[in-house]
Amino acid sequence: MNARKVILDCDPGIDDALALMLALSLPGLDVVGITVVCGNVPVEKGVKNALKILELMNRTEIPVYAGEARPLVRPYVDAMDTHGEDGLGEAGFPDPSVSCSSQDAVSFLADRLSAEEELSVIALGPMTNLARLLERSPEAFARIQELVSMGGTYKSHGNCSPVAEYNYWCDPDAAAKVYEAYASMPELSGKQIHMIGLDVTRKIVLTPNLIEYMKRIHPVLGGKIEAITRFYLDFHWQQEGIIGCVTNDPLAVAYFADRSLCSGFDAYTAVETEGISYGQTLVDAYDFWKKPHNSYILTETDPFRFWLLFCCQVLGGDESAVRHIFSQILTEEVPA
Ligand code: RIB
Ligand code: CA
Repeated sequence: MNARKVILDCDPGIDDALALMLALSLPGLDVVGITVVCGNVPVEKGVKNALKILELMNRTEIPVYAGEARPLVRPYVDAMDTHGEDGLGEAGFPDPSVSCSSQDAVSFLADRLSAEEELSVIALGPMTNLARLLERSPEAFARIQELVSMGGTYKSHGNCSPVAEYNYWCDPDAAAKVYEAYASMPELSGKQIHMIGLDVTRKIVLTPNLIEYMKRIHPVLGGKIEAITRFYLDFHWQQEGIIGCVTNDPLAVAYFADRSLCSGFDAYTAVETEGISYGQTLVDAYDFWKKPHNSYILTETDPFRFWLLFCCQVLGGDESAVRHIFSQILTEEVPA
């Protein structure tokens, strides 16, 4: 079967970096480009980090494009407290020896989507680039074959407010525009945003035991994963009192590649842009508003299968050996 063409729109970002490593390792994905948006770190840092990960993975043939430097309306708020000043856990990766494209991200998205028949987008950051694409070229936007977005939350609590998850909180106006487009644009009729929210990503916890094992499977990449997640582990201990770190973005990539990894339900979803709950995803699970089901909300996932995929595909682990070790280390339930 031919690999599926995909653009990764991201804000690297520690978990974005893990997601990029996974996407670059899955034979079923053909990453045709990486577009970067302001989010965890300012866009210029995110571009450098995407290039650093491409160099680490020996994939510098993949082009990187700089996108929007600030949200549509709200002031830009980064997440360097979580991801470190450099956005990669202050792990000290060397500056990249390659550069990004001179073309901006939104123009690349418009050009590539206009030219391709079957091209999907996995959005791992605020949706600012996608909202600008929608404004600039709605016909190109409508040609996105499938949009998987890490963001939002259905029943789980937020991570930027009691109800809001960072990607949609950082740019709620962009998220609202994109979700509304899937509910109202005739060209998008029948298509949905696959929302990989905190309900499922909170179940994907990278623990010290897993990191130790990753280093034994692949000392170099396992060591790099340890280096960039150390900061993230400390943040989670201080903020959430857990040993381990919630790795949000990689699940969106894994789900794109293997739909059986998550399950959920259709619904109309809107994003609040004003007031105390801005950034909240209002999932109409009981169809009060009788609006088009613009989203597929993922609520269940299998951490064991996710980590098995990651350890085998990214690190080259042997499945039966990995299963054996997992039976020892993936027993504890981490509080959601
Ligand atoms: O809320 C988690 C999301 O926000 C992740 O994508 C993380 O990288 C940040 O972008
Ligand atoms: Ca991200």
